[in-house]
Amino acid sequence: MPDTTVQTGTPFQDLPAARAARSEDPQSAAVDYSGTVAKDLAYVEHEPGVHKPDPILVADNVTRRFGGIAAVDVGHFEIERHGITALIGPNGAGKTTFFNLMTGFDKPDTGTWQFDGNDLASVSSEKVARMGMVRTFQLTKVMNRLTVLDNMLIGAPDQPGEGMLRSLFPMLWKSREKEIITQAESLLDRFLLLKKKDDYAGSLSGGQRKLLEMARALMSNPQLVMLDEPMAGVNPALKQSLLDHIVALRDEGTSVLFVEHDMNMVRHIADWVTVMAEGKIVAEGPPRDVMNDPAVVDAYLGAHANIDLGDDSVLQDVE
Ligand SMILES: Nc1ncnc2c1ncn2[C@@H]1O[C@H](COP(=O)(O)OP(=O)(O)OP(=O)(O)O)[C@@H](O)[C@H]1O
Ligand SMILES: [Mg+2]
Repeated sequence: MPDTTVQTGTPFQDLPAARAARSEDPQSAAVDYSGTVAKDLAYVEHEPGVHKPDPILVADNVTRRFGGIAAVDVGHFEIERHGITALIGPNGAGKTTFFNLMTGFDKPDTGTWQFDGNDLASVSSEKVARMGMVRTFQLTKVMNRLTVLDNMLIGAPDQPGEGMLRSLFPMLWKSREKEIITQAESLLDRFLLLKKKDDYAGSLSGGQRKLLEMARALMSNPQLVMLDEPMAGVNPALKQSLLDHIVALRDEGTSVLFVEHDMNMVRHIADWVTVMAEGKIVAEGPPRDVMNDPAVVDAYLGAHANIDLGDDSVLQDVE
């Protein structure tokens, strides 16, 4: 049964109702990104590769082969700015490879893609991140032998301690360093990791490492954050807080693309869902439409026979 009870603050709240409640709040942000994106996407056809009103990332004819396998074969794909887009599909569909290609961690055999209007072919992963598109990894890449806080600091642009400027203008760098540490601590607080800031990252649980990686990705204030299975291994008690963070990011104006097998998460926070199978985009649309599409259910059940796409049991678990 779909979740119809709406109580702000309860786990897996109903987003449209939560948005409505928030927009009545006089304290709410001046720009209602969730409302804007919902309105814009309401006019978009539910077709693979469809054009969107205000795309932040656009990919054309992007292919990547490994031996005989076309891991990615995307004709046209757009991600709407200020939206939360879910990229779903069975194991081996090419989701992680697509992330790698877009963010400069791998090179496609063919294709072009633009982030915020800038061509990214042959742009390095570091430069892509500096331009405002930051990703996390399916298998986390936090530095186990650094502290949690130090992991955050290496995610910051213009790190203190680098280059000549620091020795020339020590006061300037001191204040920048302070600013960065304050930002890191506030993100750690938001991700419930502040108490652990001086612990080695290696001592964190798998779920906490995921949170740390996401917090670190946010140090550079990205325009688009790409999360590869952010929920995998995160314990149910933390899941709701992770969902809230992702929705908050969108509401503050950040665009989010995330890969996820947890259909409850997809259904409750995504503005738009894109389905990938065998390297291609095979379906797109709002969560409820896409998940009721028999072709999608078939593609999924091929690999996830135990998943009921309409199952809300996780909701009860968390409640
Ligand atoms: N470095 C590589 N070398 C060879 N084959 C690869 C490589 N990376 C990915 N592949 C293959 O490309 C295909 C797509 O893999 P990818 O990891 O992108 O899928 P995915 O959708 O992220 O799957 P999952 O949901 O399991 O994470 C798979 O067949 C995989 O085996
Ligand atoms: Mg993957």
